[in-house]
Amino acid sequence: MSLATAPGKIILFGEHAVVYGRPALAVPVTQVQANVEVVDSAEAETWIEAPDISLHTTFSALAPTHPLRSAIESVCAALNIAPFPPLRITIHSSIPVASGLGSGAAVSVALIRALASYFQRPLPADKVNALAYEIEKLHHGTPSGIDNTVISYAKPVYFVRQSPSPDGRGAGGEGQVFNVARPFSLVIADTGIAAPTKESVGDVRKLWEADKAHWEVVFDQVGEIVRAAKNAIETGATDSLGALMDANHALLQQMTVSSPELDRLVLAAKTSGALGAKLSGGGRGGNMLALVKPAAADSVASALKSAGAKSTLITIIQ
Ligand code: MEV
Repeated sequence: MSLATAPGKIILFGEHAVVYGRPALAVPVTQVQANVEVVDSAEAETWIEAPDISLHTTFSALAPTHPLRSAIESVCAALNIAPFPPLRITIHSSIPVASGLGSGAAVSVALIRALASYFQRPLPADKVNALAYEIEKLHHGTPSGIDNTVISYAKPVYFVRQSPSPDGRGAGGEGQVFNVARPFSLVIADTGIAAPTKESVGDVRKLWEADKAHWEVVFDQVGEIVRAAKNAIETGATDSLGALMDANHALLQQMTVSSPELDRLVLAAKTSGALGAKLSGGGRGGNMLALVKPAAADSVASALKSAGAKSTLITIIQ
């Protein structure tokens, strides 16, 4: 029997522009997790149980491109295990799906680790990360690799995408762990609207293809915000992150990835005392985050609930 868990993640700054080579900052969110258990099975074939998404199926009934199927196949290929014995794989996740908290990447990372440990061949974090990146591509075409990186290392990261290699196999990217000089508090609120990252990433790509010169300037502005934010976090000037969040949200609005619900929550956070707020992740739904003084966290969270948030969580970045 083997069990592995992986945390959720939240992007603090730089989503979308990160797909185009600009840096982004992301941190793990340990209040939500994906758990995968792998046990021997007495059945003739491998069964996969994921009750949270009502999935109860045999491995062979999964479509060839299903991310769970490719996760299992790629780990077994990486470990030279073929054919693999019948298993029972149970997946639980408290990370809301399609909400910007990295649910897909967290399930992949936990599944890769649980299988590797079941076969008594634990993999180093960089190998887990590389396998998870290949699976991320099935979830959403041109991922930067930030989600699998922050989740594989479970540390705050400053991430820069690497260009894909000539064979088209993206290298993912480079995640540098960064120092948090002074802890700061965030309220994360879920619009409750599931919004697949693939769609918003695809729409930004259409905008970029139609006017590359314009969008490169916008992405450069995001890159400047991210560098300033990293500097503020490393020097303890965390109050200045609020204005940087507001500026990043405005650029995400220009990219058409905000939504009336996200804008309503951002406004509610600001009017109830947050120092700054922005959407986080793919956008169009999913989560937003607000920077708060610790004493204001509860009142900002309840203002967000009153403005329609389905759930909120308070987290301290340190
Ligand atoms: C998704 O969590 C973040 C995006 O920047 C997409 C990506 O980086 O792959 C929107």
